[in-house]
Amino acid sequence: MHILTIETSCDETAVAIGEIKGGKVKIISHVVASQIKLHAKWGGVVPDLAAREHLKNLVPTIDVAFKQAGFSGQQEAFKKIKIIGVTAGPGLAPALLLGVNFAKALSYAWQKPLIPINHLEGHLYAPWVDESLKLNFSSQVFPALALIVSGGHTMLIEMADHLKYKIIGSTLDDAVGEAFDKVARIIGLGYPGGPQVSRLAKESQSDLTFSVPLKNSPSLDFSFSGLKTAVLYKALTMTKGKSLKEVLGRSPKPDLKISLSKKQKADLARAFERTAIEALEIKTIKALKNKKFKSFILGGGVASNEALRKSLLKLFGEKFPQIKILFSSPEHTGDNAAMLVPSTYLRWRRAEKEKKTDKYLKNWESLEVDPNWEL
Ligand code: KG4
Ligand code: ZN
Repeated sequence: MHILTIETSCDETAVAIGEIKGGKVKIISHVVASQIKLHAKWGGVVPDLAAREHLKNLVPTIDVAFKQAGFSGQQEAFKKIKIIGVTAGPGLAPALLLGVNFAKALSYAWQKPLIPINHLEGHLYAPWVDESLKLNFSSQVFPALALIVSGGHTMLIEMADHLKYKIIGSTLDDAVGEAFDKVARIIGLGYPGGPQVSRLAKESQSDLTFSVPLKNSPSLDFSFSGLKTAVLYKALTMTKGKSLKEVLGRSPKPDLKISLSKKQKADLARAFERTAIEALEIKTIKALKNKKFKSFILGGGVASNEALRKSLLKLFGEKFPQIKILFSSPEHTGDNAAMLVPSTYLRWRRAEKEKKTDKYLKNWESLEVDPNWEL
């Protein structure tokens, strides 16, 4: 069974085609047209620009995906593809609209079922894109603890079974990826900041640290806004060689220009990264101590951070060796459409069992985007 998936929630136009064989997902094409260069000029994603790029890129991206899948043309795509999955939220409304509208047009013209997928669910299912993990072996995986670390979300989730979520912790302010991006801006690196901060952090051996936000709070919530401000203050004191009190002084308009050496930037990047990782791990450990889990899922753009992956592997190896770790390959951690294939299939299979597939056949008419769709 072939599944076509489309993702346009932010600044990547992504299309994938997956095949379900023997309960496993096999991705036969996976195309991501990134807009990073365009948005980098503005220091972040500009929603209307993103939408315009999706409009320009969607058809060519689908065309490449069909070719990559080995389809001889649209006729073969039409014959083979049984269902369509599309990200319907959360994300930037103008960007989501493009992907959803395109998917609706295809669903109407082809008369094929259209399944709306939550972007966060996509990130959670990225490990299943890995062919070795069977979708029907749920007893080996659940209950699972999942940690989503992206540009828009930081969440701890309990998964009792496939498609069953309970959010047990989330950020009270900035998402961890957002904090990476803001820290990058403070220390003068480009957009997106995450990969650049982590690259630079590797060049430092400094033992500079920041205090870990919400370290002693009993809740499973996160906070990264104070940490970002701590980096800002440290950058200011490093720049001026003065205390913060002296930098801010009594002047109504203190000079807040930051100018750092490469070493200072690297030291700040490393200290921030280490603290952010510790903050994520402290709450993960807390959740693992509260309840028995069989596996741990890591998803979202920040999941490609090498230091985070290494640190979590060490933590689980030492303290929770019985828990199966489900990381996706770095190729599928950021926004992509391959990650939508597993849950598109699972949702379709569930509807088949419940004899409710009709609702997906009507979606070309009624499906709307939900920029704030909660998991
Ligand atoms: O999941 P994603 O691609 O988009 C959202 O759903 O938000 O995540 C993007 C976020 C950005 O904030 C980016 O800076 C961050 O993931 N990111 C990283 C790394 N690669 C991407 N953060 C830290 N280290 C990385 N290597
Ligand atoms: Zn994402």
